Amino acid sequence: REYTVAILGATGAVGSRLIEQLEQSTIPVKKVKLLASKRSAGKQLSFKGQAITIEEATPEVFEGVDLVLASAGGAVSKKLLPEAVKRGAVCVDNTSAFRMEPEVPLVVPEVNEQALFEHRGIVANPNCSTIQMMVALEPIRQKFGLEQIIVSTYQAASGAGQTALDEMLSEAKDYLNGETMEGKIFPVKGDKKHYPLAFNLLPQIDVFEEDGYSHEEWKMIHETKKIMQGDMNDPKLKVTATCVRVPVVIGHGESVYFKTADTTLTAEQVKETLKTAPGVVLQDDPAHQEYPQPLTAEGKRETFVGRVRADKENPGSFNMWIVSDNLLKGAAWNTVQIAERLVENDLVHVPADPYLG
Ligand code: A2P
Repeated sequence: REYTVAILGATGAVGSRLIEQLEQSTIPVKKVKLLASKRSAGKQLSFKGQAITIEEATPEVFEGVDLVLASAGGAVSKKLLPEAVKRGAVCVDNTSAFRMEPEVPLVVPEVNEQALFEHRGIVANPNCSTIQMMVALEPIRQKFGLEQIIVSTYQAASGAGQTALDEMLSEAKDYLNGETMEGKIFPVKGDKKHYPLAFNLLPQIDVFEEDGYSHEEWKMIHETKKIMQGDMNDPKLKVTATCVRVPVVIGHGESVYFKTADTTLTAEQVKETLKTAPGVVLQDDPAHQEYPQPLTAEGKRETFVGRVRADKENPGSFNMWIVSDNLLKGAAWNTVQIAERLVENDLVHVPADPYLG
């Protein structure tokens, strides 16, 4: 079987990577449709060397499409993906629109691929910061049991989209030219105040909840529970997060402290486990100053882990440092990887009782 694949949000930061990852994937592609807003309709982008004209994303454009890879923002997914499902297309959604719906599997293939078998038309791709943390922690959880995660993130500007990234780069130019930096997008387009990100740190990603956590922090906590335990509210695994936007172009960093159920566990055993974990590259050699960095992770599909250290005062607990390309494993690669697994398992069918939002 060959598939007609639509990329929704093809002109965006993640969209450009979706095109590239689909070009490199094992999916037999019959036809590609590149979709964006009216503003981009008529422009051209290339797929495997062939020029493709961008179409405006409307409900009708999904006629005849088998698979949709979506990254055009939550509101667009909410409106258009049910329309695509109605027309028989299975959707893999990179936005947060449906992640917490019990009918929608939230999947990191290395962790919970089996959830794909339950899909009813829409599969959600988790938040970028959650994905790389799951890839690194699941093998440890499987082998030794996991009781608590405390994470602080260092998230790159590209995670906020192409326009936001462009703004940070132009702020940097202004700063170096001795001009005043004027933030218009960061920390969040939809919030009241804006600050420059260049040469700065912003401890706000997405809007704030009533309890003082940012929505990004909320996502990391609840998505982790849903992916690892199947239930976003399961209290067995304790998770807490602080999310910070940093002036890095591509590549999210995470300082993770975790408590296992095994008080005799050593850092060596954790490293041995990570060495053979799917999707993980252990980069941990302090004597030679080897550790994961955004600049060296950029363009790679893997999740890089290093700085593994035991907390000497709390046996069974550890610190480590995780970096991955937020546009690839954090977004486009995980999305295409899910699509590959759907194809391999013959799951590109909308069931008789589809989930329509
Ligand atoms: P466009 O370039 O036409 O605005 P990013 O996350 O990098 O900001 O990219 C967002 C993507 O979502 C772009 O491809 C953008 O297309 C697309 N997009 C934004 N609004 C809409 C919309 N209303 N309908 C379809 N695509 C949209």
